[in-house]
Amino acid sequence: MVRPTRPPESSFPCYALTVPGLEKVAAQELEEELEAEVKRTAEGLVVFRPKRLDKSVLQLRTVEDVFLLLWGSDRLTYRADDLELFERWTAREPDWPKALQVHRSIRPPPRGRPTFHLVTQMHGEHGYRRADAAKAFAKGLAGKFPESWRYAEENADCEVWLTIDGASAVCGLRLSDRTMRHRTYKQEHLPASLRPVVAAAMVRLARLPHHGVLLDPMCGAGTILAERLAVQPRAVLLGGDLEPAALLAAKTNLKSLGQPWLVRWDARQLPIRSGSIDRIATNPPFGRQLGDPEQIASLYRRVVREADRVLVPEGRAVFLVSDIEALELAARTVKWKKQERLRLRLLGHPSYLTVWSKT
Ligand SMILES: C[S@@+](CC[C@H](N)C(=O)[O-])C[C@H]1O[C@@H](n2cnc3c(N)ncnc32)[C@H](O)[C@@H]1O
Repeated sequence: MVRPTRPPESSFPCYALTVPGLEKVAAQELEEELEAEVKRTAEGLVVFRPKRLDKSVLQLRTVEDVFLLLWGSDRLTYRADDLELFERWTAREPDWPKALQVHRSIRPPPRGRPTFHLVTQMHGEHGYRRADAAKAFAKGLAGKFPESWRYAEENADCEVWLTIDGASAVCGLRLSDRTMRHRTYKQEHLPASLRPVVAAAMVRLARLPHHGVLLDPMCGAGTILAERLAVQPRAVLLGGDLEPAALLAAKTNLKSLGQPWLVRWDARQLPIRSGSIDRIATNPPFGRQLGDPEQIASLYRRVVREADRVLVPEGRAVFLVSDIEALELAARTVKWKKQERLRLRLLGHPSYLTVWSKT
């Protein structure tokens, strides 16, 4: 009989969801910030066991959600037999009272009568529908919550998720809420704004020295700058954009976090002294935003040349682009050395997060 992976009685492993392609950066954050043991990674998912499980899991920045792992399996059959297993595993495998106790110690206490909610996600072709999986999952959960709790469609105190992806399924009790994914500072959105976890990953990959200066020459709504300020409120930051509307959005988003310098400028000609910036992290417009590949190649060439001028010797630059060839050609003209290249899936499009060092 197929057995799911079952957490040992004494401690719960957890899993975190992130943007596909960021697993390695997320795993590194888990190891460094929580002294976690990373058990495995799959697309957009990291399974880990933190040294101590407390509220500090909610401070992670490169993951969008964190769960207690209730059960997991890599051996789904894709047939309707799976449904029986979902029900049985959900009913029998987790130590439910202990899981709810851990949840209570991490999440703020509910106001009034506690509520719960079930989420079933399914990717891939299976011989059953998502609604069938949801029904089996709900059956397995029958009687697991105290009788006084009620089901809620929105803003429930407690959420249990079943995520099915091909032959794998994980079931978890959600420890995070929507603010982990969306952050509280993000008041203003621009259409091309970055997902905060991606901006946080860029800040980590920049490896900024403690008193180092970070520049985002095309800062849009300021997500990269915000992620730096969130981990170091006194950080010295410089940001700018060609568009006054972007600068206004950045100002609003950064208000609660700190005081970066925000300037209206053209990133191809920065009003900044040569050799004065320790790190650059930015995401220039993607080709599909400008529409013309030649325009993108020329913009990247000039932005990279200017970035090279303002960086200190051995400074680092982190770029997120979709037009990777255009960026690599531009980096070659200034002889930057590539340190890292991650392929991310953002809104279904491949994007590349690259880290460069000035030689
Ligand atoms: C993809 S968006 C950046 C999004 C930003 N990281 C965020 O999270 O909101 C690219 C930005 O580059 C700006 N931009 C385009 N060309 C520019 C140039 N020559 N100089 C400065 N900014 C420019 C655009 O106005 C836009 O805000």
